[in-house]
Amino acid sequence: MTARETILQTTGLSHWFGRHRVLFHLNLDIRRGQIAALVGPSGCGKSTLLRAIVGTHPPCEGRVVITRGGTGTVVQGPGRDRGIVYQRYSLFPHLTAVENVAYGLMVDRSTVADRLLRRRHWRELRRCHREEAAQLLERMRLGDALGRYPPEMSGGMCQRVAIAQALIMKPDILLLDEPFGALDEATREELQRVLLTLYAENQEAVCRGDPPPHTVMIVTHEINEAIFVSDRVLGLSQYWDWREVGEKECPGATIVYDRPAPVFAPGDPRDFLAFREQKEEILRAVFDPHHCQSHREYTELAAQVAGKAAP
Ligand SMILES: Nc1ncnc2c1ncn2[C@@H]1O[C@H](COP(=O)(O)OP(=O)(O)O)[C@@H](O)[C@H]1O
Ligand SMILES: [Mg+2]
Repeated sequence: MTARETILQTTGLSHWFGRHRVLFHLNLDIRRGQIAALVGPSGCGKSTLLRAIVGTHPPCEGRVVITRGGTGTVVQGPGRDRGIVYQRYSLFPHLTAVENVAYGLMVDRSTVADRLLRRRHWRELRRCHREEAAQLLERMRLGDALGRYPPEMSGGMCQRVAIAQALIMKPDILLLDEPFGALDEATREELQRVLLTLYAENQEAVCRGDPPPHTVMIVTHEINEAIFVSDRVLGLSQYWDWREVGEKECPGATIVYDRPAPVFAPGDPRDFLAFREQKEEILRAVFDPHHCQSHREYTELAAQVAGKAAP
């Protein structure tokens, strides 16, 4: 079934900064429709991994492959198939919410010559892009803010516009690097529910027999958030038993946790008690420097489940 098609794969991905090895041999496989949360201790290499996937900083070893329509392409630089949103939103302050979201479409679908020489055609195109942007913003419950400029919006609203800016390009995978890190708790929760809405849209698509439209990888250091918003939690950590691969000192962080997470609907309460056990498991496997288990101990299960379950 299409829902299980691999979209992103990293093979033997390793990275060093000078002599400091940060990432060790990451083999990762993200399937269409998954909302995967990546957690790990501060400085373990989460952003480094995302930058390798985005293509701005290629890995020293190994590769990243994006598959579309059954054809895999090795990532060699940034591309529209991967969207990214960072903690600090990157909106144009002189454009309204709608214009910010429509901007990528305009740059993508028209040339400078169109803008200068085919003005009527260009105006019609711009109207369509703005209409598409407005519809997306309304779906993200920003219908009241279409004409507002970033300085007139709250941090949470700006971050929702930034997510819409990435989503409108229909990336094969949306990457989020601690996107809610700068927001207060209530706003964070609102934004978490936006991700649950994306998951619900995936489920609706699968019910209709369509491929799920959203595949997301979100980096967060908040374990509750990771479990709440995702259907799969990945743990990246330097705390693992690297002696088992014949190393004399830590060769960097690798994937030490890969298990399914319970799925919540956008209106569900955030019942943290329900996943207390999984939280403790993640704390132990990923964040505890004294618990250096085999990197396979918490990753085998997900490998089996990923092969069987559809979202
Ligand atoms: N450009 C760089 N040059 C040297 N070291 C870096 C650079 N970027 C990141 N690092 C180091 O690599 C490690 C991983 O960084 P990062 O990927 O930002 O971690 P995380 O996102 O998990 O907090 C850290 O020890 C950081 O200091
Ligand atoms: Mg980071």
